[in-house]
Amino acid sequence: MSDSKYDLVVIGSGPGGYVAAIRAAQLGLKVACIEKEPKLGGTCLRVGCIPSKALLQSSEKYHDAKESFAQHGIVGDLSFDLEKMMARKDKVVSGLTDGVAHLFRKNNVTRYSGHGRILNTTSVVVEKGRRQQVLETKDILIATGSKVAQLRGVEFDGDRIGDSTTALSYPDVPKHLVIIGAGVIGLELGSVWARLGARVTVLEYQDRILAGMDEELASSAMTVFKKQGLNFKLGVKVTGARVTKNKCTVEIEGAKPVTCDRVLVAVGRVPNTDNLGLETVGIELDQRGRVPVDASFQTKAPHVFAIGDVIAGPMLAHKAEEEGIACVEQIVTGHGHLNYDAVPGIVYTHPEIASVGKTEDELKDAGIQYKKGKFPFMANGRARAMGETDGFVKVLAEVGTDRILGAHIIGPNAGDLIAEIALAIEFGASSEDVARSCHAHPTLAEVVKEAALSVAGRAIHI
Ligand code: NAI
Repeated sequence: MSDSKYDLVVIGSGPGGYVAAIRAAQLGLKVACIEKEPKLGGTCLRVGCIPSKALLQSSEKYHDAKESFAQHGIVGDLSFDLEKMMARKDKVVSGLTDGVAHLFRKNNVTRYSGHGRILNTTSVVVEKGRRQQVLETKDILIATGSKVAQLRGVEFDGDRIGDSTTALSYPDVPKHLVIIGAGVIGLELGSVWARLGARVTVLEYQDRILAGMDEELASSAMTVFKKQGLNFKLGVKVTGARVTKNKCTVEIEGAKPVTCDRVLVAVGRVPNTDNLGLETVGIELDQRGRVPVDASFQTKAPHVFAIGDVIAGPMLAHKAEEEGIACVEQIVTGHGHLNYDAVPGIVYTHPEIASVGKTEDELKDAGIQYKKGKFPFMANGRARAMGETDGFVKVLAEVGTDRILGAHIIGPNAGDLIAEIALAIEFGASSEDVARSCHAHPTLAEVVKEAALSVAGRAIHI
């Protein structure tokens, strides 16, 4: 094979694309991955999950030290250095993006720098400035991810009114930050800046936060966030935002405008399909701008596949990764599968919020009879020793079979605890299976066990 002939060309190096490229190389394919940004890793590593988690960690440490160390008998004056905090975040990001480059070298995945555009079902052109290079390939995988959704009437000025990328690098702590959208991004980044001292107001169109997540979980989260000082205005429609001198004005339909010094727009993301050459191979987008695929991630065009944020389903890094693996395994072995009922979703606030499987509303809408087991962290020894007693674990199991259909957690380390239930769902386990498994004491995982016990009304510690 010549240098520019491949078995698989992956367009995009986010968690979906880079993981698919590595798995394909493990399976013996000659693989290329095209990325237009200077760093590998996509939104997640460069300007999403990783930098936001780095700032969440730093701000949480500061907040914890300020607010709760005294209870532990640790006292003293405290301050923070935002520049240092940002530098640490940047170091974490570069360590991980360099790590992807290392994995590519280790697995013989060839990296191309530039914009990838499909020419036909067996070739992709890499464009960088005026330079063009055509890659021949047997199969093409579109893993181009998503970009920030814009809001009509709200123009980003690259400084005071911006998106999550801007909010990851504010040069100083805003006095008053207005966030449009009470979704995952709004709540995570709102938490960061509130902990560092900003007054935060979240404007949300719907009459609840975290739309799509379990209602009981979301309303419990709202109570906790309010206690932490976040202000919410629900059921408000933002119609515009503008900058005047050093202030921003946010217009709300039928209500007084809000003034603040920074605005973060977090009203969702849309698939990234710009200039991909989809029309040249007959791919038409669905109504929400996504690339339609079948259960094998095959698009309408032969040999052209798509995964991750650019197709239907939750826009989550780990969902994209699993789809990437399933897709290339399908291509090479004929088998590959992802169980969408076992894909967890996590909000990295404090406490964390995590869900897997069906919500109560989804089960009611589907007419499925279920039993509910719930257990509070307040009744768990470890949570009390940690001083982290807010929240609960809720397990939903089918009447008759006792099979676990969903679980919803708000509380310390919820994002790690949910993995047990994801595994249980993957194995088709019953609530009794989880309840009868020995969980170490004293651990937070005992709350999961007790919630599973509670499905049958036999929780011990309550
Ligand atoms: P989102 O879809 O989670 O929430 C957007 C919110 O904005 C919705 O509640 C919506 O009702 C509201 N909204 C829309 N128009 C509005 C208007 N005119 N005025 C007021 N409110 C309005 O979107 P978000 O938070 O931007 O996140 C984007 C994607 O990134 C999501 O799919 C999310 O799953 C993913 N993500 C996941 C993370 C994680 O797994 N921890 C972290 C960050 C993002």
